[in-house]
Amino acid sequence: MKRIIGLLLVLGMNLAYADNSVQPGSNIAKWKEECGSCHIPYPPQLLSADNWQSLMGSLNRHFGANAELDAKDNKRILGFLERNAGSGKLYSSASRRISETPWFIREHDSISPGEWANPDVRSHSNCSACHGKTVLGD
Ligand code: HEC
Ligand code: HEC
Repeated sequence: MKRIIGLLLVLGMNLAYADNSVQPGSNIAKWKEECGSCHIPYPPQLLSADNWQSLMGSLNRHFGANAELDAKDNKRILGFLERNAGSGKLYSSASRRISETPWFIREHDSISPGEWANPDVRSHSNCSACHGKTVLGD
């Protein structure tokens, strides 16, 4: 009996970890929470570190929204974004929009204006309309 209880405990713990693959309180959890509330949390590797820096430096004027964070959270999230950023011109845009980077435009050039204008899509930023909730996994 003791052995069975021990086994159940171990299995139970494994299940609990599977459900919480993102550790609560981690930088990734913070990023998902803060940057995934209005839209999907856009994957860091799709934009250059320069663009992330400039975007995180102007969150009070964020594409028409105010997404300001306290300094501590801003620093943690920026660190995570920078460490995982894409590199090179392909991942950079003057607008700091992923949807206006050269790789994005090239990857999406088979989509017609009519498809972009579909009422279920409306915005190039609405990744989840075509890709589901996650793009590139996490
Ligand atoms: C208060 C709501 C809100 C929060 C919070 C928010 N955003 Fe946004 N974000 C927006 C809006 C609105 C847009 C513009 C969407 C559009 O044009 O359709 C946007 C657009 C973006 C884009 C450009 C998308 C594209 O077209 O490529 C990026 C990148 C981005 N946000 C990153 C972030 C990051 C990083 C955070 C967390 C620090 C964050 N956002 C938090 C509202 C928010
Ligand atoms: C109108 C639908 C649509 C929207 C909106 C859209 N995509 Fe795509 N995306 C596609 C299609 C179609 C492809 C090409 C798939 C292929 O060729 O296999 C693609 C390809 C991609 C690829 C490369 C292939 C892959 O799946 O890894 C990435 C990464 C990607 N999109 C990310 C994004 C991101 C990030 C956004 C939002 C900023 C976005 N997409 C918005 C339809 C869309």
